Amino acid sequence: MSASDRVETKWSRLVEQALRRRAPILRDANTTALRLIHGAGDGLPGLVVEQFGEVLVAQLHEERLSLPQEAVRAIVIALARRRGAQAVYRKVFPRDRSASRARLDALHHAAAPWWGRPAEEEFEVRERGVAFRIRPYDGYSVGLFLEQRANRDRVRQLAEGRRVLNVFAYTCGFSVCAALGGAAETVSVDVSKRYLEWGRRNFAANGLALERHVFIRSDALDYFRRARRQGRAFDIVILDPPTFARVKGRRKPFVFEQQIGALATAAMEVLQRGGRLLACTNHRETTIRDLERIVRRAAGERRIESVARPKLPPDFPGDGDYAKSLWLRVN
Ligand SMILES: C[S@@+](CC[C@H](N)C(=O)[O-])C[C@H]1O[C@@H](n2cnc3c(N)ncnc32)[C@H](O)[C@@H]1O
Repeated sequence: MSASDRVETKWSRLVEQALRRRAPILRDANTTALRLIHGAGDGLPGLVVEQFGEVLVAQLHEERLSLPQEAVRAIVIALARRRGAQAVYRKVFPRDRSASRARLDALHHAAAPWWGRPAEEEFEVRERGVAFRIRPYDGYSVGLFLEQRANRDRVRQLAEGRRVLNVFAYTCGFSVCAALGGAAETVSVDVSKRYLEWGRRNFAANGLALERHVFIRSDALDYFRRARRQGRAFDIVILDPPTFARVKGRRKPFVFEQQIGALATAAMEVLQRGGRLLACTNHRETTIRDLERIVRRAAGERRIESVARPKLPPDFPGDGDYAKSLWLRVN
């Protein structure tokens, strides 16, 4: 066997293992979106592949990839065929951070796939029966952060009759689940009008009327100030900020470690006694303990009745620092 044959055999074995690990999700007919390859966690550093219905999205983290792109493409095409996908889109995270943004933007917005035939600009997937609209060539993110599947489920279970605030709402996945779970109201806050409109389409995709659900385009801290002035209180507050974000029209970017303390304090101020806070972060340098310390400090004198640190779902093996979340019940 030649060296390249041996390498290929090793990859196919790793892909097989990855699929076996995900068997329970793959068996669920009500879920058509999952992460198929989670980089080093599946033995393939630098490569992340997600499936959204008939489309695969491959993230190539060049810094960590140990294989040439053509070899990676071959693995991904084989996986696409195996999963019955019709197209693969590629998102490149360049080694050289100064690489032309314009070139990457063009790549991530191109309808032409890396492999297969062009997908619809927007289509629907299901996650435990909940519909989400996906846009495979709308930039780096396609509309749904899969690592939050279990948290979305939990929000749905807890929402009955509750007032739910979802800040950094993005395409309003948490709000949709809260609404489906019977929330008395949901408030989705995001600086992006476009993402909130996408969120409305997610509500529509699930046949949800909008009377009790509002979408507010605002900076998160500005919204908290307004909510406090209005004497608002919520039974569930979801705080899932980005690590870093440039906001149109603002000189200063959003930097997680600079703002999380103020955000946690503001969240506590609008949290009803006995209410629940879900705090999440993808910021690698902030450990789950750091996050807990920040949130406990923000709670001040209020008693924390329970804390849960849910594990990532089985399609995110290995990497404990990848995405952290914390559920707190606060008196
Ligand atoms: C990582 S996404 C949040 C993911 C979301 N919680 C979910 O589960 O789908 C970050 C979102 O924060 C929004 N954002 C960034 N800076 C913001 C700010 N200062 N205030 C409010 N939203 C902001 C972005 O527009 C983006 O939609």
